[in-house]
Amino acid sequence: MRKKISVIGAGKVGATTAQRLAERNYADIVLFDVIEFVAEGEALDLLEAGPIVGYDINVTGVTIKDGAGYEKLANSDLVVMTAGIARKPGMSRDDLILTNQKIVGGWGEQIARYAPNAIVIVVTNPVDAMTQLMWHTTKFPKQRVIGQAGVLDSARLRAFVALEFGVAQKNVQAYVLGAHGDQMVPLPRYTTVAGVPITELLPKEKIDALVKRTRDGGAEIVNLLKTGSAFYAPSAAVAEMVDAILYDKHQVLPGIALLEGEYKISGVCAGVPVKLGAQGIEQVVEWKLNADEQAAMEKSGNAVRELNKVMGI
Ligand code: LAC
Repeated sequence: MRKKISVIGAGKVGATTAQRLAERNYADIVLFDVIEFVAEGEALDLLEAGPIVGYDINVTGVTIKDGAGYEKLANSDLVVMTAGIARKPGMSRDDLILTNQKIVGGWGEQIARYAPNAIVIVVTNPVDAMTQLMWHTTKFPKQRVIGQAGVLDSARLRAFVALEFGVAQKNVQAYVLGAHGDQMVPLPRYTTVAGVPITELLPKEKIDALVKRTRDGGAEIVNLLKTGSAFYAPSAAVAEMVDAILYDKHQVLPGIALLEGEYKISGVCAGVPVKLGAQGIEQVVEWKLNADEQAAMEKSGNAVRELNKVMGI
């Protein structure tokens, strides 16, 4: 049977994710929203693009109203959680926590009820805490709840490094770990241009500037857009993770996982290299970090722990 992906939230991230996934032609897509008929409208528009683009999967939309509509989650292989409020200029991702806790927690219960075998990819911010909340509410095995942040943050660093060197983006590899926010942990030692670490190619000030731009990459776009936050790169990041899972690629990507001792962090979710395949997280890949990198990772873990306290989980 064809795979089924439910995308929660038909805002810009959700709708663009649905578009990217529809164009891959590998799964039926159901889009959900609470704003009446927005999901239906987006879905119909996407369906009607099929004959031109050349996909023939089904795309449908569901409005959640008076507690009904959640049953359409049934038989989802994958759920992508994007619903929630986004930042406005001047806000941090953490400012969203109490509002988005209600939304993500509520959906977590419904996902557990109607799609108990699904793998969930969490995108809603603050995403490390929301991933933890999703895991906590669904009570799914930790392998089946993954947060998206690192693919996006790494892509930003890759784009900035490629611009700096004037090389193809494909020539640049980068890994950004830790929390999706001020505690982000970009790893210049593991950021390479045609295989060579940037630590051998650039002076420290240049690297610091690239790292800072990456760390502030979300805010840079919020400040430009003023009425919303990024969605092209976030949706591309989600689609890469979905590919890794649906094609059982065993691909190592940065993703948010519940840690139980890896990187000396226990009981909290944070961004680490994860091997993704059909079962979700097949492995948290442990790299040798130097003392500064390790300290930054632990700081990330502590920051997420604080957010968990705010949520009371
Ligand atoms: C960003 C937001 C979506 O980094 O967290 O763009």
